Amino acid sequence: MITNITENDIEIIEDLENKFPNIFLKNDILKDFKNNPYTKYLVYLIEGKVVGFINYYMIYERMEIVNFNVLDFFQNKKIGSSLLEELLKIAKDKKVGNITLEVRKDNVKAIHIYSKYGFKEVAIRKNYYNNTDGILMECELM
Ligand SMILES: CC(C)(COP(=O)(O)OP(=O)(O)OC[C@H]1O[C@@H](n2cnc3c(N)ncnc32)[C@H](O)[C@@H]1OP(=O)(O)O)[C@@H](O)C(=O)NCCC(=O)NCCS
Repeated sequence: MITNITENDIEIIEDLENKFPNIFLKNDILKDFKNNPYTKYLVYLIEGKVVGFINYYMIYERMEIVNFNVLDFFQNKKIGSSLLEELLKIAKDKKVGNITLEVRKDNVKAIHIYSKYGFKEVAIRKNYYNNTDGILMECELM
């Protein structure tokens, strides 16, 4: 099941922070909801437990993917693809014009999956990730 959580989904938020400790500190997500009116978390649940998520910003007619992760054990089972498909569906429903993201140049798997859903490379961000370049990718919907 894929769902857009709110600040009231306390159990899911705690599970998300526990499952991805390299990304979140305790209470990061609640603080994010409090401080950033544009932030959203699309979460993939199996039997109520988090296995993957996309954190994105919905800023009027555009979206930005901030973080996209699936737990190692659940990778390569199309969970990431399902999350991206759901995000694209939301974007179309909300009449979003374009979605952007930054990805490490050496992250071939992520680049593959973004390309599969129509994202194109539009710019290189030199040394965006310490010594590795970032690629700005964009998916135009309108
Ligand atoms: C990127 C990520 C979210 C994808 O999630 P996932 O559930 O594994 O993705 P899926 O199973 O839906 O799809 C994986 C695709 O990558 C392909 N793939 C797998 N390993 C690959 C590799 N080494 N190189 C290129 N493509 C690869 C698979 O064949 C599949 O493509 P297909 O649908 O055309 O067959 C997940 O791998 C992840 O969490 N990675 C670590 C964090 C990360 O890099 N996030 C992106 C930051 S921008």
